[in-house]
Amino acid sequence: MKLRAHPAGPISGVVSVPGDKSVSHRALLLAAMAAGASRIAGLLEGADVLATADALRDLGVEIEREPAGEWRVHGVGTGGLGEPDRPLDLGNSGTSARLLLGLLTGHPFTTFLTGDWSLRSRPMARVIEPLRRMGASFVARSGDRLPLAVTGTTELLPIRHEQKVASAQVKSAVLLAGLHAAGETTVVEPEPSRDHTERLLGHLGAGLTIAELDGGGRSVTLTGQPELRPADILVPGDVSSAAFLLVAALLAPGSALRIEGVGVNPLRTGLLDCLREMGAGLELGHEREQTGEPAADIELGAARLVGVETPAERAPRMIDEYPILAIAAACAHGTSTLAGLAELRVKESDRLVAIAAGLEACGVEVAMDDSSLTVHGRGGPPPGGALIDARHDHRIAMAFLVLGGLARKPVTVTGAETIQTSFPGFASLMNRIGARIEILE
Ligand code: S3P
Repeated sequence: MKLRAHPAGPISGVVSVPGDKSVSHRALLLAAMAAGASRIAGLLEGADVLATADALRDLGVEIEREPAGEWRVHGVGTGGLGEPDRPLDLGNSGTSARLLLGLLTGHPFTTFLTGDWSLRSRPMARVIEPLRRMGASFVARSGDRLPLAVTGTTELLPIRHEQKVASAQVKSAVLLAGLHAAGETTVVEPEPSRDHTERLLGHLGAGLTIAELDGGGRSVTLTGQPELRPADILVPGDVSSAAFLLVAALLAPGSALRIEGVGVNPLRTGLLDCLREMGAGLELGHEREQTGEPAADIELGAARLVGVETPAERAPRMIDEYPILAIAAACAHGTSTLAGLAELRVKESDRLVAIAAGLEACGVEVAMDDSSLTVHGRGGPPPGGALIDARHDHRIAMAFLVLGGLARKPVTVTGAETIQTSFPGFASLMNRIGARIEILE
């Protein structure tokens, strides 16, 4: 699919964004492990989350979508999944693949996992290594990539896993395996990563201990083999999706936007801190808690943004927001330096390269090394006028469509169907609030 974003005017209105992708995956996976039926409202119905739902169905979990849009998951209890009779295809979704590997480690049968071209090129060693220590065995393609086969066990060993790089996916995989182990499983992170798994496990009745460590790290210890109780889960809007609307509105003169019901878990809001440092006035209103997750309405108007320096330690709190932050930096006054970006190289695409190449094509001067990006802001609309390949990466596609709205000349994005993985309806929602995104084919 090819989309073209034409230069547009103000971005205004009152809207909500689809459900949080990370919370949606976890809602399905943990509800599946509960003893009884759970209801999920606000679930993201994007391709990534639907891949998790389909995989769970293949593993024997009954999951229904009710006509009003709520989902019902009939949990099978910890260790209750059944051997699937075909490979599980997880499409573009790294979270589905890695979290499922954790769950499958506690089940004594063999499952084959595969995905699209992008997912088949992503590293799985980071989950395979700890899960092997817990007792699972793996046969994977070279470089520990998909397709792979995992064979789990009922004789799981609880472990202590010290992460070199903070990763919520790896942490969650180990904790989901640890659910099945007799004893305590601990994950130590160098910096705290998103804690949706911990919050939801706590909500469903698992025993968890969380300790802040000297030097900024965190350790999470789960007591295995709990009986998880079913629950009503309300998924907040995805702050990573809201990010595209926020930047579009901040940089389009005359904008006034309110996004309602957005998840504002402090481990996800690094972008809001950066935008404030750049000069944005973002107001949070109607702050509340939903199923253990903080949510709020975010209100903002256009602002004059200046360049920013983002510290490497902030990266886990905004890991998915660098593409859109780089667009804000490209339009801001002055230079921005984004540090701590090594992990961007193993996302749905090599995002560091994709951002740098895309900005250059749009007439923005950039410099990059292995783990940082410097963007020379244009102090107003960048030239634009480029053709951008989304590289199987939804966030690259959406970021450059936002840039098209702010540029002097239209930006065309090929491979834009990938937006469906996290933000169904992105183009029509953007157009409703003032963007001019055209579907070309
Ligand atoms: C996610 C964690 C992050 C993020 C991904 C979703 C999750 O990945 O980039 O989009 O739901 O746990 P890492 O944990 O690998 O940093």
